[in-house]
Amino acid sequence: MEKEFSTREKVLNILKQNPNAFVSGQEIADTLFLTRAGIWKAIKSLRESGFTIESVTNKGYRLVCDYDGINMDFIKKSLPENLPLKYYSYEEVTSTNDIAREHANEKSDILIAADSQTNGRGRKGRIFFSPKDTGLYFSLLIHPEIPFSKATYITCIAAESLVLSIQDSLGIETSIKWVNDIFLKEKKIAGILTETFGSLEEEFPEYVVVGVGINIYPFGEELPSDIKKRAGFLIKKTDNTDNLKNLLCINFIKHFYAFLSEIDRKTFLDGYRRHSNLIGRYVRIHNDKKPSKKEYALVTGIDDECRLLVTYDDKKTAALTGKEVSVVKY
Ligand code: BTN
Repeated sequence: MEKEFSTREKVLNILKQNPNAFVSGQEIADTLFLTRAGIWKAIKSLRESGFTIESVTNKGYRLVCDYDGINMDFIKKSLPENLPLKYYSYEEVTSTNDIAREHANEKSDILIAADSQTNGRGRKGRIFFSPKDTGLYFSLLIHPEIPFSKATYITCIAAESLVLSIQDSLGIETSIKWVNDIFLKEKKIAGILTETFGSLEEEFPEYVVVGVGINIYPFGEELPSDIKKRAGFLIKKTDNTDNLKNLLCINFIKHFYAFLSEIDRKTFLDGYRRHSNLIGRYVRIHNDKKPSKKEYALVTGIDDECRLLVTYDDKKTAALTGKEVSVVKY
């Protein structure tokens, strides 16, 4: 059955077909067999959802912001005013984590978002492929009062916030591969890179940068083949994705700060455990120093310090931290 478009979607389509050009209200009304008042209502509703639509007398309407681009003004407007955040967005950066560090002397918390990254980084020095149009890349610089040893909590808070944000924004259930990867079915669709800065002599870090990268839409052909095998995407590009990047970012930040303010009570942990896709799975534990060493274990849980609890084949148990594991397929 053919999809029924709402007036709002039809107006948006006309504006998208005329990138950066003005289309008169009368022309849109005539094309859609609607009144000028109906068009105005649709424009108002699109603006309320975050689209930047310019209107000029005798010229008409022009869609200014990119379809599903980041709109920092909208993000700022949608978040509580009392958040200690400064907002910056860029078309292209090396890595939003690096740009966040460059702003570190501003002392407040900072949100940096970009449409693409030329040097997106993941854990253990891996590349995080960050092309324009298909993903959302942002970093939060925060000043949490937690000891260095508990920085993993921040990664877990970010992972749980991301799962909840995807659920709120799209109704899609994702899962967490300890400690920082988000999966949709068997494919990784998002990752988190937490970097802690400061002097170990101090009680708390000076600041922490939490970088989040989400593959929202399918990549183009340019994707390196090893990434192609493992990486997935959240949704196909359809008309239902109005404003999605902004929504994902807003919902993430709301959950993140709520969990952060309750970090002593670890309110993120139940959800983090529930969303874990490793508990009960048999995994290989990778050893950075001896990459050829093969160790296998059953994952039995995640403890209160966010460590991965495992039982090895010889029945010895361990609580892992800072390790990388992969699920063994039979
Ligand atoms: C991983 O998969 O190991 C973590 C990936 C984290 C990617 C995000 S994208 C925004 C921020 N900037 C970066 O360079 N990395 C993080």
